[in-house]
Amino acid sequence: MTVNTLPSADIDLEVLLAHRETIADGVVRLAFRRPGGELLPPWAPGAHVDLLLGPGLVRQYSLCGDPGDRSVLEVAVLREHSGRGGSEFVHDVLRTGDRLRIRGPRNNFPLVSADRYLFLAGGIGITPFVPMIAAADESGAEWELYYGGRTRSSMAFAEDLRQKYGDRVTLWPQDRSGLLDVHGILGTAFEDTAVYCCGPEPLLAVAEQACAQLPGLGLHLERFSPKEITGPSTGFDVELARSGLTLAVPDDRSILEVAEDAGVPVLSSCREGTCGTCETPVLAGVPDHRDSLLTADERAANDTMMICVSRACGRKLVLDL
Ligand code: FES
Repeated sequence: MTVNTLPSADIDLEVLLAHRETIADGVVRLAFRRPGGELLPPWAPGAHVDLLLGPGLVRQYSLCGDPGDRSVLEVAVLREHSGRGGSEFVHDVLRTGDRLRIRGPRNNFPLVSADRYLFLAGGIGITPFVPMIAAADESGAEWELYYGGRTRSSMAFAEDLRQKYGDRVTLWPQDRSGLLDVHGILGTAFEDTAVYCCGPEPLLAVAEQACAQLPGLGLHLERFSPKEITGPSTGFDVELARSGLTLAVPDDRSILEVAEDAGVPVLSSCREGTCGTCETPVLAGVPDHRDSLLTADERAANDTMMICVSRACGRKLVLDL
């Protein structure tokens, strides 16, 4: 069985907001089209796009529509009262007919081929699972979704998913059932299940902890807020092989900032190690990985690093930049 994944793209294009609709308490669904009706870039379940909402206001949102429909890109956005302004801009300022730029789609959370999937969603973390579940279901795989949220009315897509897939979907509103029993759910999962988890940090942390004790399960998760960075930051040198520059990175600056100051063109978006836009190949040296998205195997391989947050273990790194 093959579940299609497409390579990431870094396309930057103008779209217009064709439709917006409130789909749960504090959640709006947005549908973007090209102003001239052209096709949008292809994407696969798990992909996200950057919305360029204004100067310094770039936010990543998972695509939640149908990858087979290239005329529209859909995202769902939760209003986050303690956020940094992106979701409030979407809710309070962005209106139907407005034009803005988007970047991507980029996929750091692809659906691997598996015979059996278990999806664990917390709150707005349901969004990447909507197209993933459709793909898993169409592939003929066994799958289950456990979906936790504060209250039933705050849980976007809950009714649609229940209606479409019935008992494969377990809704777990916290005000009635408490927090998702992650250990209990994973404890009864079959070996070789691909476990996908998306939601708030405490849910991701429990899933990581539970899967560490259950080696038969393969855990895939996506973070939209960074893991806490621990450990001191010290200065080092970075050689940018393609640019022919060697730069000093002081302890209070990132490689990304130092490269930008030197006039080296580098793509970036979240600047906190969660989106993958600044991923850069490593030619020599050992990175001190501080991002929130590379897997343990990818970190150990040391082939690439996120230069917005990651640093060097030694005195020098050489990057393909
Ligand atoms: S800019 Fe997002 S990971 Fe570096």
